[in-house]
Amino acid sequence: MNNIVILTGAGISAESGLRTFRDSDGLWENHSIYDVATPEAWERNPTLVQKFYNERRRDIQKSQPNKAHILLAEMQNKFNVNIITQNIDDLHERAGSKNVIHLHGVITHSQSSKNPELTYMIDYEDINQGDLCELGSQLRPHVVWFGEAVPKMEEAILQASLADIFVVIGTSLAVYPASSLLHFVEPILPKFILDPGNPPVTGYKNLKHLKFPATIGIDHLMKELEKFA
Ligand code: APR
Repeated sequence: MNNIVILTGAGISAESGLRTFRDSDGLWENHSIYDVATPEAWERNPTLVQKFYNERRRDIQKSQPNKAHILLAEMQNKFNVNIITQNIDDLHERAGSKNVIHLHGVITHSQSSKNPELTYMIDYEDINQGDLCELGSQLRPHVVWFGEAVPKMEEAILQASLADIFVVIGTSLAVYPASSLLHFVEPILPKFILDPGNPPVTGYKNLKHLKFPATIGIDHLMKELEKFA
């Protein structure tokens, strides 16, 4: 059975009503990364960081998986599907996808600010200053901030190197190391980009760009993948 690896970004959740980061009216237009998404921001003003992620968590709770999330989950009946997402939302899981690799963490969990291996399922509850882990340290969102290590990158590289088909949906490929995953896919293998914009993918061989929003382009992608079933 063909191994399909799918890298997703904020664009796959755009039609679920969740803002992307770098499109017009994106999250980084209304917030400075340096105020809410770095370890320095956490040291300087943890309350502002908690507020940013508590707002994200509430938006995600109100959102629903869209057709793209759902069809990717249904693909698991025909292919070996491994999803690697940069998103901190849980829409892939809520659509039914299993074993999703969250490169940048996931909003439904908290982690100890001192012992990051201590993580806790919080669903969509706020995290506030004074909420402590079992060892008494302040809890923070279980997300990877700019400048922090990406613990699941090795696992993601292994998945990409084992892909028979590689798919990229809804990411500007602006953030390393996630953006480097395409380099680990054999040049001869088929690659598909599903994005209405133009992520920087020139130079890759055997690549087809489906220039549509995810919920429209997912049908085109399924038709293309049927050829490999
Ligand atoms: N369907 C598919 N793709 C879309 C849609 C849509 N409806 N709308 C926008 N896009 C595409 C854009 O063209 C762009 O390529 O989604 C991508 C969004 O890019 P970004 O906003 O940069 O989001 P992403 O690539 O996920 O950002 C990567 O940066 O800030 C960090 O940690 C954050 O995980 C995030 C990482």
